[in-house]
Amino acid sequence: MKFQVDVQASSKYSVYIERGLIHSVATLTPAHAKVVVLTDRLVPTQWVSSVMDQFDDPLLITVPEGESSKSLRRTELIVDEMLDAGCHRDTVLLALGGGVIGDLGGFVASVFMRGIPYVQIPTTLLAQIDSSVGGKVAVNTGLAKNIIGGFYPPHVVCIDPDVLHTLPKEEFANGMAELIKYGLILDAELFAMIENERILQQLPETIYRAVSLKQQVVEADERDAHYRQILNFGHSIAHAIEKASNHNVSHGQAVAMGMAMMIQGKPFEERVLKVFKRYGLSTTYSENPAALIDYISKDKKASTDGINEIFVHEIGSCEIETISYTTMKTILEGAQ
Ligand SMILES: NC(=O)c1ccc[n+]([C@@H]2O[C@H](COP(=O)([O-])OP(=O)(O)OC[C@H]3O[C@@H](n4cnc5c(N)ncnc54)[C@H](O)[C@@H]3O)[C@@H](O)[C@H]2O)c1
Ligand SMILES: [Zn+2]
Repeated sequence: MKFQVDVQASSKYSVYIERGLIHSVATLTPAHAKVVVLTDRLVPTQWVSSVMDQFDDPLLITVPEGESSKSLRRTELIVDEMLDAGCHRDTVLLALGGGVIGDLGGFVASVFMRGIPYVQIPTTLLAQIDSSVGGKVAVNTGLAKNIIGGFYPPHVVCIDPDVLHTLPKEEFANGMAELIKYGLILDAELFAMIENERILQQLPETIYRAVSLKQQVVEADERDAHYRQILNFGHSIAHAIEKASNHNVSHGQAVAMGMAMMIQGKPFEERVLKVFKRYGLSTTYSENPAALIDYISKDKKASTDGINEIFVHEIGSCEIETISYTTMKTILEGAQ
């Protein structure tokens, strides 16, 4: 079955979801004189070869895996490698990997000779349901994540659910945290499908559903002025946990912990905790949660008045509220 989601933001593009699509991404790639395939060392060679084999003389650039590749230094190295290989403005970049490659590839495409087209070929669950759609591209500095970047939509997004077969369990769980988030903030039916495990038999349909939710949020507020913040449910606490643990707690695990703290005492709390456990997401934070307030108040999105927080009062809908640090501290203390 083929699925298509059209995103009508500052520029229009389509997201295609189809099993086996990795073998025909060339048919969706815009006209070009040269193709650059950007990937990382842990993206399995079978997927890299499937893409490379479809083009004449493509340039393969493989960067180290992990967040540290999202840097200006790495951007410069990639740009120089592209120049050495004779790339010009008629080059197309294919970002083949998880969210790190999508964010870095999109950023490189946005600055190379003031902008060349790029294609997102996301290969993690997180990248397929979240980061490849929406046009946010960025690199990090030593002080902050995603602090240098822009909005630079891809030419097209090609999603092949079959590439997830090689994804390690922990990486699948990371994506599940974000999928559960979509269910909690926007889609009670999706949450029920996750709960009864129907999503595992219907992965392409599930990815289509999540991408459609992301498309609606992006179309309503592409530039993150207000509404798009709902996607940050559980994330202010999650970012604090990631920092406090020196990134030993993965993003997905931290998001699960953050969301668990935000639904304490709700009638549906037990239901949600059971789902986290079922998909390998631990919600026990071993340190003192109250200490996270220091990290939260230093967050780049925090202001002196307090923090914009997302609240789920019933499964499938949410609200953005500005709360004080004192209220945030009370929430954290409740989790002790
Ligand atoms: N732009 C956005 O809107 C947005 C949204 C959410 C997250 N992000 C960003 O996404 C990044 C996280 O993305 P991620 O979770 O995909 O992590 P990631 O890109 O680091 O990928 C995780 C690991 O999985 C490996 N991998 C990728 N595909 C594989 C496959 N098919 N089989 C086996 N291994 C595979 C990678 O090599 C990597 O080691 C963060 O940098 C975050 O800031 C961006
Ligand atoms: Zn997230």
